[in-house]
Amino acid sequence: MKAVLNVVVLISGRGSNLKAILDARDPLIAVRAVISNRADATGLFHAQVANIPTAVLEHAQFANREAFDNALSELIDSFAPDVVVLAGFMRILSPAFVQHYAGRLINIHPSLLPEFKGLNTHQRVLEAGCRYHGATVHYVTEELDSGAILAQAQLEVLAEDTPDSLAARVLTLEHQLYPMVLRRLAEDKLNQ
Ligand code: GRF
Repeated sequence: MKAVLNVVVLISGRGSNLKAILDARDPLIAVRAVISNRADATGLFHAQVANIPTAVLEHAQFANREAFDNALSELIDSFAPDVVVLAGFMRILSPAFVQHYAGRLINIHPSLLPEFKGLNTHQRVLEAGCRYHGATVHYVTEELDSGAILAQAQLEVLAEDTPDSLAARVLTLEHQLYPMVLRRLAEDKLNQ
């Protein structure tokens, strides 16, 4: 079989990063499945258009976080991914889940980590008067937005920027950054 990086992408919403990964059409990247924890995630459409299997696992259907995470990891593992890509997946994952995918679970976050972990990053960057802002792809560890950094992309904050304009500009960076990082991980796999 052709050597590729097998990827499962987890989403909760619009899936524009998923779309960017699919649109890159990188021959070294094989998205084996897209899984959402919300049935109404519009991003599922991007997978369907690309003929990629999709699944919805609604967390509300499970008794607790552990039960959901167990079912989720069983489903993910059925696609045997090298890497699990969080792309706007809005769930805190249990320590057991994170440990199970140690070194194989990555996320994209809209700030220059370690600055501005958590939500509302664009608003907070403006309030803090930062000159630079950007996006980070990092490994996921038990502590939120704190794992080792794989890559970052940066922009200069403009005097006229609003949270919305920053969000749009950072998102454009994300769409370049995520496919680039996956490409690098694929090359690493091939060189092993
Ligand atoms: C992005 O801003 C990403 O940084 C954050 O969630 C958002 C996902 O957007 N983790 P999309 O669903 O990929 O469009």
